[in-house]
Amino acid sequence: MKITFFSTKPYDKTFFDNANKAFGFSMEYLDLPLSPHTAQLVSGSEAACIFVNDRADAETVNRLAKAGVRLLALRCAGFNNVDLKACQQAGIPVVRVPAYSPYSVAEHTLALMLTLNRKTHRAYNRVKEGNFSLDGLMGFDLHGKTVGLIGLGKIGRVTAQILKGLGCRVLGYDVATHPEALAIGVEYVPLQTLLSTSDIISLHCPLTPETYHLVNRDTIKQMKKGVMIINTGRGALIDAKAAIWGLKNEQIGYLGLDVYEEEADLFFEDLSARVIKDDTFMRLLTFPNVLITGHQAFFTQNALLNIAETTLHNIHAFAQGKPLENEVGLMG
Ligand code: NAI
Repeated sequence: MKITFFSTKPYDKTFFDNANKAFGFSMEYLDLPLSPHTAQLVSGSEAACIFVNDRADAETVNRLAKAGVRLLALRCAGFNNVDLKACQQAGIPVVRVPAYSPYSVAEHTLALMLTLNRKTHRAYNRVKEGNFSLDGLMGFDLHGKTVGLIGLGKIGRVTAQILKGLGCRVLGYDVATHPEALAIGVEYVPLQTLLSTSDIISLHCPLTPETYHLVNRDTIKQMKKGVMIINTGRGALIDAKAAIWGLKNEQIGYLGLDVYEEEADLFFEDLSARVIKDDTFMRLLTFPNVLITGHQAFFTQNALLNIAETTLHNIHAFAQGKPLENEVGLMG
């Protein structure tokens, strides 16, 4: 069976080639993202393998189906970029990697919190230049602070565990109740209570029509003045223009982003010699209390190994006609 990979980077090839020793698939790596224009490049492949910013909308899915694709394999957890209904209508099952390393994302979440708080990025540059002044570097103890986690799934719970270890009070809001979260000591509260009582708010829910722009002018107004907001979930959980408004009036004291609503045009590429035309993104970069990483929270060796093995295992199960344990249903 042949697989075409879209949006491939050299590290994907390394990990997938290695994992494929146990499977022996024929694999073609394309660096282009999947879109209606690139769908036809799958010729001869029964499976297309895509990542977070590949676009599997209805038009693309229909073109994939016409080109002979019978399986869409996501090498990530989130599937907000896939039109599941179109896949179902085209008879293309969708599989994903539901959990490859919740630790990778939770630990990066902590890195964003600590860096924003203790300003280690600024201290690093100062010390390199022989500037040992502490002015402007003052932080606060995380111990004793109240952190609100929106989404208490796999990543939210590991984040909760880490924060509990630091001595934080952890509030949680989720549409489901997870006994594991209660066992860690997370206090479930209504969303409004979480917004108005948390010193730090971190987003760990999926992007759905219900969570789109969950952080907007209205919800920002309900937060504590000077709140820290961290988003390692999906970009469109935050209305970026509303965040700029909140930063300008100092309602938001710190903003840490690993994801951005319009990241598909920016992230995973070296654009250092080009003019970036996204004014909202560029405005965000001008704030001293905003820290942005380019969707790297997942990026650990452990995660890449699990992603490659699980993705090929998913495709192998399909090829063998076995049940697809990681299939994404229409309800997610
Ligand atoms: P998960 O499925 O284990 O947990 C998601 C949780 O969100 C569930 O408990 C669910 O009940 C809850 N939820 C769903 N709708 C909600 C709503 N309207 N309000 C509040 N909670 C809601 O997923 P996991 O593995 O914890 O991942 C969470 C998200 O993190 C993914 O959907 C993905 O978007 C993002 N992610 C980001 C990565 C990165 O590199 N930055 C890597 C992996 C995932």
